[in-house]
Amino acid sequence: MEAVAVPKFENGLKFEVRQELAEQLGDVLDSVYSLMIRTHVYHWNVEGPLFDPVHKLTEAQYTALFQAVDEIAERMRALDAKPAVNANSFPTGVSNIPASLSAEKMIAELVRQHEGVVRRMRDVVALAEKVDDVVTADLLTGLMARHEKDAWMLRSTLRH
Ligand SMILES: [Fe+2]
Repeated sequence: MEAVAVPKFENGLKFEVRQELAEQLGDVLDSVYSLMIRTHVYHWNVEGPLFDPVHKLTEAQYTALFQAVDEIAERMRALDAKPAVNANSFPTGVSNIPASLSAEKMIAELVRQHEGVVRRMRDVVALAEKVDDVVTADLLTGLMARHEKDAWMLRSTLRH
């Protein structure tokens, strides 16, 4: 095969800007990944009268979260950065998810975590907009809508 030089990265975003975006996206990746794991563990262990709705809702949510993690990591690759995942730095403490927790406490915790992810993403959208990375802003805006919807559905199961 003929050796061809790899084209320089010239999408209009400076190296330093891409680095900063990738770093922020890396934090978002950790947040979403850890929320995905927690959602999966709750899916297995939920008990009581809310078993059926929570079991089903968490399945739909961890499936979507898995897809979201992939989208975030691949956005980092498109910015010419390499996503690393460090479970020790996961922000939501997945190293110690209790297996026994009431369904209500599981739901409340997931609502808090979805909203935490939304707040984190809102900051990164602001940065992305400031540096004209509309693609990252668009990706995260779409993901925020999903997290807000997830939080709404979870919260609604707690209302009497
Ligand atoms: Fe399952």
